[in-house]
Amino acid sequence: MTKQEIIEVFQKKYGVDNPEVYTSPGRINLIGEHTDYNGSFVFPGAIDKGMIAAIHFNGTDRIKAYAIDLDESTEFGLNEEDLPKEGWAKYIFGVCREIIKRGGTVKGFDTVFTGDVPLGAGMSSSAALESTFAFALNDLLNLGIDKFELARIGQSTEHNYVGVKCGIMDQFASIFGQKGHLIRLDTKSMEYAYFPFDPKGYKMVLLDTVVKHELASSAYNKRRESCEHAASTIAKRHPEVVFLRDASMDMLNEVKSEISEEDYMRAKYVIEETQRVREVSDALERGDYETVGQKMYETHHGMSKLYEVSCEELDFLNDVAREHGVTGSRVMGGGFGGCTINLVKDELYDSFIQDAKAQFKAKYGHEPKVYDVVIGDGARKL
Ligand code: GLA
Repeated sequence: MTKQEIIEVFQKKYGVDNPEVYTSPGRINLIGEHTDYNGSFVFPGAIDKGMIAAIHFNGTDRIKAYAIDLDESTEFGLNEEDLPKEGWAKYIFGVCREIIKRGGTVKGFDTVFTGDVPLGAGMSSSAALESTFAFALNDLLNLGIDKFELARIGQSTEHNYVGVKCGIMDQFASIFGQKGHLIRLDTKSMEYAYFPFDPKGYKMVLLDTVVKHELASSAYNKRRESCEHAASTIAKRHPEVVFLRDASMDMLNEVKSEISEEDYMRAKYVIEETQRVREVSDALERGDYETVGQKMYETHHGMSKLYEVSCEELDFLNDVAREHGVTGSRVMGGGFGGCTINLVKDELYDSFIQDAKAQFKAKYGHEPKVYDVVIGDGARKL
């Protein structure tokens, strides 16, 4: 929806024709999955799809919100006990509460919002929504919150109001994104660097299984617990280890008999993935996309067999990519459904997409959705 279109919806809904309009994107991630809550590296980029919201202060201490895509409205106050029952409204409420907890004053507002980040596809529609409101309220109320803290406000919203103990990657990418650039973020030091991403001769494309498995958030939280348990067990012998990012395979092997087989597999994946992200950064600097692609396949294998966050449909698409000679392919995001991200040579692109659609349909009865990746800008006012 364009700025003008959303202003018209706002006008019809609330009778005010001069709301402010803000947008924030979803994200892709080249490599470094489930590493962000382990103090390790991630390699995301903002995409050209996101959420857009029109906002106008209403002179009360209440929020009126309308979700255009769901055609649902709600109204809530700003105190902890005012938690709305609608899942989507919890994100807006959570952002307001997290700002208030940090000492900011939030005033009541009317808002309408919509978006084109596919839900449940692993492209972080929820982070896009959080970042839109965090960025907008900070800007409109002159709160002076820095960009890191804006990202943390979104992350805390997930932790405290949605129940997902996520890392910082999605909100960071949504706030800090820059057109044409991926961002390598060290989630321990929060140091980051922009990498121009223009792989000549290749295309990056997402294939969405349109499958979302139940219990993804409790399974996500369970993965995090496994990692934290493995790290704290290692730390008993090696106090310098705060996160799994600080641990080596030797250290993990020392404590193998003290942790469950499951925790061992999860930690092994994270330690290996940390190494892969380092290798991919080096490869990107050399423009060596063959190595990038190979690491993507290795990540898929680890996510499927050690971390166990893939699913049949994603593994199937990964196999199709490999058989088709695609340079790199893997499950993207938290997993349990959603997309694969694929790095494909230009000349293979058309036949790969055709092949993936046909084979997937023959097996699962529907085609995967196809999204060409365009790296866009982060949160902004329109
Ligand atoms: C979700 C979380 C992120 C990250 C990814 C997996 O998108 O929100 O913090 O952990 O999963 O890399």
